[in-house]
Amino acid sequence: MVADAGHRRSAQGHLPDHAIGADQRQLEPGTDPVRADSGGEGPVTDGAEPGNVDKTKAAPVTAIIGYDTRFYELLPKLFPHRPEMKNPYEANAKLAETVAFRNGTLQGAYFMLAARAVGLDVGGMSGFDNAKVDAEFFPDGRIKSNFLCNMGHGDPSKIMAKLPRLEFEEACTLI
Ligand SMILES: Cc1cc2nc3c(=O)[nH]c(=O)nc-3n(C[C@H](O)[C@H](O)[C@H](O)COP(=O)(O)O)c2cc1C
Repeated sequence: MVADAGHRRSAQGHLPDHAIGADQRQLEPGTDPVRADSGGEGPVTDGAEPGNVDKTKAAPVTAIIGYDTRFYELLPKLFPHRPEMKNPYEANAKLAETVAFRNGTLQGAYFMLAARAVGLDVGGMSGFDNAKVDAEFFPDGRIKSNFLCNMGHGDPSKIMAKLPRLEFEEACTLI
């Protein structure tokens, strides 16, 4: 799950199955959920929240985590034992959107963990203009941007310290 399908194939080829993150029905909403672009001028920073502009310009790479609104077209390949499972998604755009967004978000999270595991700094970013990014990078409307990841090696003197985390009891309810 990196910038293009070729990388993705080779990444999976080197990973044991248990190291690949799961998603609903392993549908991987899209062959191109992540798109790499150099941070900088243009639609990625144009319209971004003011606090996000400089750090995006400073990042050598900004990955666009997106989702494929017609992921179900790939289902016969990814879910070959029951290809007819594409039918409910094809017939229900709202259901397809919900599943694509859920699985695309999961894959974005796995992407961040993988990038951090190889030593990169990764800063998630939702404060940007999705419509501008989509118009520039995904003009046919099939892929929608979800969030961005600024990637590289941050200046340790400027990287924010870890923020407080909730205790288990505060975050979880045993039922
Ligand atoms: C999906 C996502 C979107 C985020 N959007 C922004 C943003 O727009 N601006 C920002 O300054 N930080 C943003 N963040 C960063 C978080 O506010 C927070 O600083 C970060 O997740 C802390 O993670 P860490 O403690 O593991 O480094 C985002 C993070 C994620 C995962």
